[in-house]
Amino acid sequence: MSSLTKLVGWIDARFPLTSNWKAHLSEYYAPKNFNFWYFFGSLALLVLVMQIITGIFLTMNYMPDASLNNSGVPVAFASVEYIMRDVPWGWLIRYMHSTGASAFFIVVYLHMMRGLMYGSYRKPRELLWIFGMLIYLALMAEAFMGYLLPWGQMSFWGAQVIINLFTAIPFVGPDISLWIRGDYVIGEATLNRFFAFHVIAVPLVLLGLVVAHVLALHEVGSNNPDGIEIKKNKDPVTHIPLDGIPFHPYYTVKDIVGVVVFLMVFSAIVFFAPDVGGYFLEANNFIPADPFKTPPHIAPVWYFTPFYAILRAVPPMFGSQFPGVVAMGVAVMILFFLPWLDRGNVKSIRYRGTVYKVWLGLFVISFIGLGVLGVLPVTPLYTIYSRIFSVIYFAFFFLMPWYTKIDKTKPEPARVTG
Ligand code: HEM
Repeated sequence: MSSLTKLVGWIDARFPLTSNWKAHLSEYYAPKNFNFWYFFGSLALLVLVMQIITGIFLTMNYMPDASLNNSGVPVAFASVEYIMRDVPWGWLIRYMHSTGASAFFIVVYLHMMRGLMYGSYRKPRELLWIFGMLIYLALMAEAFMGYLLPWGQMSFWGAQVIINLFTAIPFVGPDISLWIRGDYVIGEATLNRFFAFHVIAVPLVLLGLVVAHVLALHEVGSNNPDGIEIKKNKDPVTHIPLDGIPFHPYYTVKDIVGVVVFLMVFSAIVFFAPDVGGYFLEANNFIPADPFKTPPHIAPVWYFTPFYAILRAVPPMFGSQFPGVVAMGVAVMILFFLPWLDRGNVKSIRYRGTVYKVWLGLFVISFIGLGVLGVLPVTPLYTIYSRIFSVIYFAFFFLMPWYTKIDKTKPEPARVTG
């Protein structure tokens, strides 16, 4: 017996190493027909790890301090400049982290899109989807709080706009805003609590949710581009799904290809265009926060703009923005209910009829359209567009029980194709 086998045996007698390796990797059978859309779960894991590691190194030199230094610059802002100019490799760590934030949302939006296309949220994967949605909420909170930390003009005024939205809630609104800020204005207390949440509280929640997400996935097994259950066709002797292949080595190798391509694009951005024309890092955020000077145009970072556009599309009622705030909240929360809104008798887009395909197409156009409109300043014409897209966005969900039922679907194959 080699010394490695002996060591593994020693560990196995004390810790479930080999049994877990088998259960989750070498004897976890995944459908053999995964395609391009199945890269994004492992890429989301990669970005999560990258954000945590770069975040740890940023924390070593960043200071959550809103007071002014001897040059009249807020210490927090100056500490980010210090990281960029004086800390060895600090610029790389910071740009990896800021690019990673946008990359996270790109990867997660594509990951969710796959779920929509192949009906991956449907029975028996409802809980897996709900864990995914909780991850998405945590991710939004994480990104929002992280954006305050550099204490630039956009950090300050972006947070100002979003926290003020809570004021629109009847009766308790002003108290909720005050409670979130920890002060009557965004200041030291806000910066310190956002720092605490961004570096430890939310990442812990995120990690826990990701573990639950993967455990739920491994309990029910992966869906696939045909939307049929591979567990229905097992080898009578081995009980291994006939259309399944071991995750390791087949999909570990496939995922490495995805990682390499992703890192090529990611590095190109980090090294050559880290601000991506103001979309990943906004120009106004290179100016220190000034509570006395409101920037002429305040827009959230691109990943929030579809929801921001919905907020702006809804007209105020009695001078209150509350209806817009409700619409924005519903726009996010409605996704939780997707497993129960879809009444189609097939899961995958491959076997759906024209009705569903048109609705999904309209939904994607509206979501992207709203995202574009959310970064632009308001004009009467853009408001009309935002309203049309918002109506389509909500109709996609609210009418789903009806149009998925009347849709003429094609018969599903008994075994996976391709
Ligand atoms: C940190 C963020 C996330 C990580 C690390 C993550 C990780 C993963 C991984 C590794 C898989 C298996 C590989 C794959 O199918 O691509 C997966 C599957 C899945 N995830 Fe996520 N995920 C995240 C966020 C989300 C979100 C936000 C949603 C939806 C709201 C979601 C919904 C799903 C679904 C439905 C599946 C099963 C898909 C299928 O089998 O077709 N995930 N996730």
